[in-house]
Amino acid sequence: DSKSRVTIVGSGSWGSVAAKLVASNALKLPSFHDEVRMWVFEEVLPNGEKLTDVINKTNENANYLPGIKLGRNVVADPDLENAVKEANMLVFVTPHQFMDGICKKLKGKIKGEVEAISLVKGMEVKKEGPCMISNLISKELGINCSVLMGANIANEIAVEKFSEATVGYRESREIADTWVQLFSTPYFMVTPVRDVEGVELCGTLKNVVAIAAGFVDGLEMGNNTKASSSNEAAIMRIGLREMKALSKLLFPSVKDSTFFESCGVADVITTCLGGRNRRVAEAFAQSGGKRSFDELEEEMLEGQKLQGVSTAREVYEALNHRGWMEMFPLFSTVHQICIGRLKPDAIWSRGRGNSELV
Ligand code: NAD
Ligand code: 13P
Repeated sequence: DSKSRVTIVGSGSWGSVAAKLVASNALKLPSFHDEVRMWVFEEVLPNGEKLTDVINKTNENANYLPGIKLGRNVVADPDLENAVKEANMLVFVTPHQFMDGICKKLKGKIKGEVEAISLVKGMEVKKEGPCMISNLISKELGINCSVLMGANIANEIAVEKFSEATVGYRESREIADTWVQLFSTPYFMVTPVRDVEGVELCGTLKNVVAIAAGFVDGLEMGNNTKASSSNEAAIMRIGLREMKALSKLLFPSVKDSTFFESCGVADVITTCLGGRNRRVAEAFAQSGGKRSFDELEEEMLEGQKLQGVSTAREVYEALNHRGWMEMFPLFSTVHQICIGRLKPDAIWSRGRGNSELV
C-alpha cells in the first residue's frame, strides 16, 4: 500500500483542530488514505454517552471543541493501540504530562516505517536533564520525530482565522515538506525550519512567559485595572531573552532566526495576550496567590490542561541542577510564585532581566 495513513494521538482543543486540518488535506491529497484516526482519551458525558460515540455520531468534539465539524473522515477511537496500528504518520498532541505514559503503552505497538510529529508544548525532566517531547517519542518508539509549533490559539484556527506555524525538522527536508503539505490550508500557513530543538523549546518555554504575563495582569487588581500594556511588553521582552539564552545553553545548535518564526516571537505575543496560561495566572494573582492553580484550572478550563505551571517547575529543576538559577530570574521567579514561596508581585521585584544574558 503506497498511501500513507495518519493517526492523531490526542483530542483536546488543539488535537481536534489538528484533526480537522489534517482531515481536510487527507481527502484532497492522493498520497494519503482518506480516513484519519483520532485517539480519544475516553470520557463519559453528563448524559451518559461516551465522548467517542458522540464524536463519531455528530462529527464534533462536544467536550473540547463544540460547534466545529472535524470532517466526516475523522474516526474517533478510544483504544490507543488500535488507533495507531495501521498508521505510518503519527501526530502527537496531548498535554505533555501524559506523553511518557502514552509512549510506554505504544512501545512495540507501532508499524516499522513510521514518521512522527509532535504538537506538544512541554518537556520531561529526567535525572540526566531535560528531555524534549520529540526526543522522548524518538527514544521510546525508535522513530524520527519532527515538531509543529506556532502562534496557534486553537479556537481561532477552528473558525479558520488566518495563522502561521513552524515545522521544526531534523534532517530530511522531504519529510518536513510532507508535514507542511498535510497541515497547510489557506488559513494555516506552515514554514519548515531545520531546528527541531529551537522550535520545540520556543513552544515549551513561552508557556512560562505567559504565566508571568498573567501575573502582571492580575496584580493591579486594587485599582480595578489590568496591568498596562507596557508591563506586558516588558515581560514578553525579558521572557524572549531568557527563552533564547536557555535554548542555546541547552542546545548550542539552536538558531537565532528560529526566534523570529511563528514559533518564537509570534507565539510569545499571542499566548501572553490570549492564552489559557495567561488567563489562569491572572486569576491566581488576583487571589493574591491564595487559590491554587489546580483549583483554578479545574474551575476555569473545563477539562483543558495548563502546560505553563508544570513547565515552570521543570525549567526550575533544570536550572537548579546546572547552577543557572541567577541567570534566569524570570523563569525561576515564576515557579516560586506558582508554588507559593513568593508573592505574585515578586515578578517585578525579582523577575526582571539579567543584563549578562547572551
Ligand atoms: P486540552 O487542554 O484542550 O485538553 C486536555 C486533553 O487531555 C483532553 O483531550 C483530555 O481528554 C486529555 N486527557 C485528560 N486526562 C488524560 C490522561 N490521563 N491521559 C491522556 N489524556 C488525557 O488539550 P490541547 O489544547 O489539545 O493540548 C495539547 C497540547 O497542544 C498541549 O501541549 C498544548 O500546550 C498544545 N497546544 C494547545 C493549543 C491550544 O490553543 N489549545 C495551541 C497550540 C498548542
Ligand atoms: P495556552 O495553552 O496558554 O492557551 O496557549 C495556547 C498556545 O500554545 C497558542 O500557541
